[in-house]
Amino acid sequence: MTLWSGRFSGKMDERAWRLNASLAVDQRLADQDVRASIAWAGALLRAGVLSQDEHQAIRAGLETIAQEFAEGRFVFAEGDEDIHTAVERRLGELIGLTAGKLHTGRSRNDQVATDFRLWMLDTLPLIQGAIAELQSTLVAQAEQHLTTLMPGYTHLQRAQPVTLAHWLMSHFWPFQRDRERLTDLRKRVAILPLGSGALAGSGFSIDRAWLAQTLGFNGPAPNSLDAVSDRDFVVEYLFCVAMVGVHLSKLSEQMVIFTTSEFGFFTLADAFSTGSSLMPQKKNPDLFELARGKASALIGLLAGMLTLLKGLPSTYDKDLQEDKALVFQATDILLTVLPALSGALGTITVSPERMRAAIDSAMLAADLADALVRKGVPFREAHGAVGRAVRLAAERGVSLEALLPEEWQACGVSGVEMSEVFDPLRSVERRAAIGGTAPTAVQIQIQEARKLLEGT
Ligand code: ARG
Repeated sequence: MTLWSGRFSGKMDERAWRLNASLAVDQRLADQDVRASIAWAGALLRAGVLSQDEHQAIRAGLETIAQEFAEGRFVFAEGDEDIHTAVERRLGELIGLTAGKLHTGRSRNDQVATDFRLWMLDTLPLIQGAIAELQSTLVAQAEQHLTTLMPGYTHLQRAQPVTLAHWLMSHFWPFQRDRERLTDLRKRVAILPLGSGALAGSGFSIDRAWLAQTLGFNGPAPNSLDAVSDRDFVVEYLFCVAMVGVHLSKLSEQMVIFTTSEFGFFTLADAFSTGSSLMPQKKNPDLFELARGKASALIGLLAGMLTLLKGLPSTYDKDLQEDKALVFQATDILLTVLPALSGALGTITVSPERMRAAIDSAMLAADLADALVRKGVPFREAHGAVGRAVRLAAERGVSLEALLPEEWQACGVSGVEMSEVFDPLRSVERRAAIGGTAPTAVQIQIQEARKLLEGT
């Protein structure tokens, strides 16, 4: 017996039931469903639909149900189609016929949209907290490595020396944007669908502003048709999550490279690496590879949600039932990956020697050109002269630094203090403008970052 069986003869076919029922997925909305129902009962009381006694009975019943869920004692019945029908069925068992008054003026269409938004409002801080934890890890590591030198890359080719702190902080800012995006999303999630009925609005005088305030929303949705069909917030959420996934993947890809024997910049803690079942010597960066791999699922879930909405007629269509599985999956992935990577990054061992050794003097070619420019040589000429020197060094099979004075002369490079140019620490120190890799500039970044993390 379903809650809508009045119009129907006989039972739903078992095969139809299995496709239609969504309880396995939407039981995660139990807490939100009960909270929204308690508020709805309050609105019905205010609208004069429920008497004080009826309201009291419904409220007490719903509170009992909330407790049953909280203590894991709630028992689902075979005929529970989704979380909304399960709660209403149980309310009937607890308080009898009065339970049948709760659904007055309400539809599962505005109910599910409300529950889902409530759930998201509850979940956003969890995700933001997990991101903030990763950001704190990056900042803490950066503070240890303000003067640790490493090669900076473009095209994965050695480019210019940077500090490890600067590199670590370059991964802090994308996550900051992610966190801010989620804060911005919040105001679009906190719009209340409840009171929109199935699509046309509620036929009872529901004080929707009161309802919104009671449930912690910013206000009621202005159009009932839009209210029950709007899932923009779901797409935005999945985008935000996918963007975090892509940032994690980018960071992970670099971690995989930097932990190879060829690079050897970092060593992972045993507790955050895995071994091989066949090769005893192996220590693998599986967690970073999984973060990289799981980003693909996150992107797929976003694409899936957009595809779900494309071409749907207004207003509610059952396709929309599929939105929750996508969101729960994305959330579970992210809340598994983020803490693991925080742990892995917080426990790496850094090899400043390997990083320093990977800086060759050709990476200071731009500094040499700058030095000539400071002597008054036009930049294009300086670039050409240093280019000739680089070619000569390559031909002779020596490092740029090892060219002889007469060779510098022949290339058109003169009048610069080579020991200053070929000191990578000096090189990074010179890049002290805001946003640069100089320790003084990175310190400013870190201060700003710390401020942004305060109170998270
Ligand atoms: N389980 C449904 C969902 O998640 C609830 C809404 C059902 N509405 C309906 N008209 N059948 O979308």
